[in-house]
Amino acid sequence: MSDLTTWVAYLADIGVTDLAVRPSPLPSPAPSPAPAIDAAGKLATIREDIGPCTRCKLCEGRTNIVFGVGNPHARLMFVGEGPGADEDAQGEPFVGRAGKKLNEMIQSIGLTRDQVYIANVVKCRPPDNRTPEPDEIATCSPFLFRQIEAIAPDVIVTLGAPASKTLLGTKVGITQLRGNWGRFRGIPVMPTYHPAYLLRAYTVENRRLVYEDLKAARARMAPGEA
Ligand code: URA
Repeated sequence: MSDLTTWVAYLADIGVTDLAVRPSPLPSPAPSPAPAIDAAGKLATIREDIGPCTRCKLCEGRTNIVFGVGNPHARLMFVGEGPGADEDAQGEPFVGRAGKKLNEMIQSIGLTRDQVYIANVVKCRPPDNRTPEPDEIATCSPFLFRQIEAIAPDVIVTLGAPASKTLLGTKVGITQLRGNWGRFRGIPVMPTYHPAYLLRAYTVENRRLVYEDLKAARARMAPGEA
């Protein structure tokens, strides 16, 4: 299926019925200038520092450390919770059902998965996909924070409660946080629902809310950049 077909299907899915024949195009993606110290090099160093990690108990059940994927110069970064079974098996974030939904979400705002960067709060799969525990988040999140500093995106979208609470340093629930801008070390953060939640609570209203959050994040990216 083409990107356009996916996008139109997604819009129809969330109840959009009145597409303009010639919508004003989103700014076309242009490559960002490479910063002096290359972000890819910084990311490689962070991955090396993680090594064959045994810093917390999540190492006991994992197959692969799921570091992150995407464009080191991405202007938009997504942060999820932690790897599930598919991600643990493949070593890449968001490759299962929730990943397919995330790809659709990315396409709905005119971007592709390889234009953005995707990472998680914890890099090893929690047993039975449980929520990561505070000590696991405390141990692993500094690596995420370093990834964010290396990439220096214009905008971060946090997917679900653990990611939103971790980056915003709050205990407030996702229902209250979503749709409201916060900041992480000066970078605008838009909390939204996790794609897995969207799949569970597949209402037009939830899909519309997520689409609104994503559009707000897209609009916050520097003009002409992807
Ligand atoms: N859910 C997440 O939060 N992250 C993944 O990588 C996959 C599913």
